[in-house]
Amino acid sequence: MIRKAYQHILAQIYDPFLASLEEVLTAHRKELLSQTHGQVLEVGAGTGVNFKFYPPHAEVFAVEPSPAMYKKALKKKNASNIHLFNMAVEEVPASPHLPDRFDFIVSMLVMCSVKDERKVADLYKQLLKPGGKLLVLEHIHSGNHTFYGKFQTIVNPVWRPLSDGCNLTRRQDLVLKEAGFVPLKEEYFRTGTDWYKAIMMAGNKVKNN
Ligand SMILES: C[S@@+](CC[C@H](N)C(=O)[O-])C[C@H]1O[C@@H](n2cnc3c(N)ncnc32)[C@H](O)[C@@H]1O
Repeated sequence: MIRKAYQHILAQIYDPFLASLEEVLTAHRKELLSQTHGQVLEVGAGTGVNFKFYPPHAEVFAVEPSPAMYKKALKKKNASNIHLFNMAVEEVPASPHLPDRFDFIVSMLVMCSVKDERKVADLYKQLLKPGGKLLVLEHIHSGNHTFYGKFQTIVNPVWRPLSDGCNLTRRQDLVLKEAGFVPLKEEYFRTGTDWYKAIMMAGNKVKNN
């Protein structure tokens, strides 16, 4: 009950809170999403910020587990090629309403919030068609050798509950590569925090000794 009310508040402030960051992120979102076609799984649609960037020939299946975010996203769903579902990515394989596999998976600002990012990386592999592509735009930990990275590590225990589960300390780039994803194109950049942007394809899992 309290969590639901808090999620409602977060959904209301999400777009204004990210507005200045979006001035930079928008170009990256557009560049990645303009490449989509066929069946696309968008993981954690949030308030639906990406919907306007999909080409009309992409059939988008967007999933969002927070009822408050889902309601916000419904208002931005203004095209018939976007389908929105109130569910978590972990529920996708069992859902009769979604394809078994996708041509593209879109993972933007979401691997920080899932319960187990390694399981989700494996799930992405399972859900991609052979030759399918994973489009990634995720913030990453700056590393404990930097002042900012140390700051992220210290504030994370407070930030995580305040942000409904977002972790500042994850390295989704490394997690995806360990899961066997291979970048066809990748870019690291800094705006506010450190970011990883990539187009990846599924390969073999990296074996650690
Ligand atoms: C920081 S928001 C990002 C929203 C959007 N992807 C964007 O780029 O602005 C993270 C979203 O991921 C959602 N989320 C958290 N866990 C998830 C899961 N297991 N499956 C799908 N979405 C999830 C949250 O509800 C939240 O709306």
